[in-house]
Amino acid sequence: MALITSPESILDIALAAMQGTQDQRLKTLVASLTQHLHQFVLENQLTDSEFERALQFIVGIGQATGKNTNEVVLAADILGISSLVATINNLDQDGGSYAALLGPFWRKNAPLCAWGESISRTDLGGQAMEVHGFVLDESKKPIDSAIVDVWHSSPVGFYENQDELQEDMNLRGRFETNENGAFFFRTIRPAGYPVPTNGPCGELLRAQSRHPNRPAHIHFMISKLGYKVLITQVFDSTDSNLESDPVFGVSRQLVGKYLTDSKSGICQLNHSFVLQAGEMEFPAPPIP
Ligand SMILES: [Fe+2]
Repeated sequence: MALITSPESILDIALAAMQGTQDQRLKTLVASLTQHLHQFVLENQLTDSEFERALQFIVGIGQATGKNTNEVVLAADILGISSLVATINNLDQDGGSYAALLGPFWRKNAPLCAWGESISRTDLGGQAMEVHGFVLDESKKPIDSAIVDVWHSSPVGFYENQDELQEDMNLRGRFETNENGAFFFRTIRPAGYPVPTNGPCGELLRAQSRHPNRPAHIHFMISKLGYKVLITQVFDSTDSNLESDPVFGVSRQLVGKYLTDSKSGICQLNHSFVLQAGEMEFPAPPIP
């Protein structure tokens, strides 16, 4: 076993100690992460107190994670990591992506709903909204019987799990596409909302002079056997925070046209989604 002779020598010794890792992918990932972290420490000549502060941050995001909040996911989100992972794993043929980060508010088993059903089950006021969409494959052929799982915030920017005024599973639902790949649901127009700012992530945002407000959006998770699960969000084209989303979720494809019909006053959104062939794998829900 080699002994340490300089700060730079620690990396090789640490990597050698990990050689016995059985899982090859785990071996590669941890070795690469270790290399990057060592480089980061050397490059920045990290001080003891800075190191301690970083560890406190990691402990803090764990401690701030609970039944209704996931500060660990939020930390990955505000650093742009969640968006990066979502994008590299869902590149479309033009180098863009229809995918966006999952975010911390998806719940499994939202109610199964009929065509056109409203997911607004608690009267919260707000502007009525109708959402029509198509689910297509990469050759733009419709996909029938896909499950379109949707969730969004209230007209004042709260998810039901954050808000005592809303009943369980309000503004959440699952719809099935018809033989034309179409789906349709009714709801109320969501508002943008701040990401939680009462934990370590909020403290970091303040230190960076960043605002916490996400542009208004609806989350979609679209699945069908034989296709990769598409996790995405469709943003309100009229929102002033489109270009300063604190979690970096907005791509060109994901800006939806939220249009108010002048006769009915109803907000209309039409949006199509493309699924890529692959394995249908669902993420772990960030909250139960
Ligand atoms: Fe959201």
